Amino acid sequence: MNQVNSPGTSKQVRTEVTVGSVRLKNPVLAASGTFGFGAELAPYYDLSCLGGICTTGLTLQPRVGNPPPRVAETKSGMLNAVGLQNPGVDVFVTEILPEMLTYDTAIIVNVAGNSKEDYVEMVRILSATEVTALELNLSCPNVSAGCMSIGAEPEQVWEVVASCRAVTDKPLWVKLTPNVTSISAVARAAEEAGADALVLINTLLGIAVDLKTERPVLRNNTGGLSGPAIKPVALRMVHEAHRDTNLPIVGLGGIAAAEDALEFMLCGASAVQVGTASMIDPDLIFRLPAEMAAIASAAGHDNLARYTGQLRPW
Ligand SMILES: Cc1cc2nc3c(=O)[nH]c(=O)nc-3n(C[C@H](O)[C@H](O)[C@H](O)COP(=O)(O)O)c2cc1C
Repeated sequence: MNQVNSPGTSKQVRTEVTVGSVRLKNPVLAASGTFGFGAELAPYYDLSCLGGICTTGLTLQPRVGNPPPRVAETKSGMLNAVGLQNPGVDVFVTEILPEMLTYDTAIIVNVAGNSKEDYVEMVRILSATEVTALELNLSCPNVSAGCMSIGAEPEQVWEVVASCRAVTDKPLWVKLTPNVTSISAVARAAEEAGADALVLINTLLGIAVDLKTERPVLRNNTGGLSGPAIKPVALRMVHEAHRDTNLPIVGLGGIAAAEDALEFMLCGASAVQVGTASMIDPDLIFRLPAEMAAIASAAGHDNLARYTGQLRPW
């Protein structure tokens, strides 16, 4: 679906966008951790309507994730501490990826690790496959530096991204944590280390409290907040990273409607991802490209890519 005939109009809107060297049929991708590997939805939806699918975060070894409760609903969004439950990269490559490659959409593999060596080894393994791009999730705790996230320190971001860059020609998308003082500082570190694109943002760290037990609701104590509440923070970070780097940006955080997606593009995103909203309304992500095109058409535009970076700050 590279062109959408907008509902109620006769105007063709071109939906194709590029993220660096990666060409997407439309700007709407499924966000990591909220869409599995696509297999559960494949019987019910045409996955080729998506711009792409970002896999659940993969690690070198299989992981069972954190003990429950690991998801909590709060008044302002969802708090999760799933803890990267996944079958491990080897099972992914041999048993899951072959089916994903039949979906006729971009396959972006989300890579997680506790050390630079983990990331490099995963990138090496995945570079030998047909995946479209690799998304380095730099929000994981750094084992050697305590529980501090790798993505919180510009020096560590540079180190991990440069080390991965040295072993792959695949497009490297770097997904950053919003739990930092300056998103521009980490974004610039990723750019200098050779990233092809930035993915902004991951979840915001929070705690939900159970007044009766006087304990945190999540067994992990803390969790990541997602959903519409985080959208203004995400838009601000996309805007700052767009202003302060030359990298293409994939924006996400609270997208629940076509208007939200176009706002991310105005702030500088070339493409967007839908996360938590897919768990509430699985149809939404499949409707978004046409709904975005309808808004563009009504505003007199003939392509979606024209929105990127068009925000006019006061
Ligand atoms: C249940 C759940 C699991 C997630 N797992 C991952 C993951 O494995 N890797 C990753 O980079 N992000 C993961 N995320 C973060 C999302 O991809 C996304 O960055 C975040 O939820 C913000 O977008 P949203 O508000 O649209 O959900 C997860 C989010 C949720 C809610």
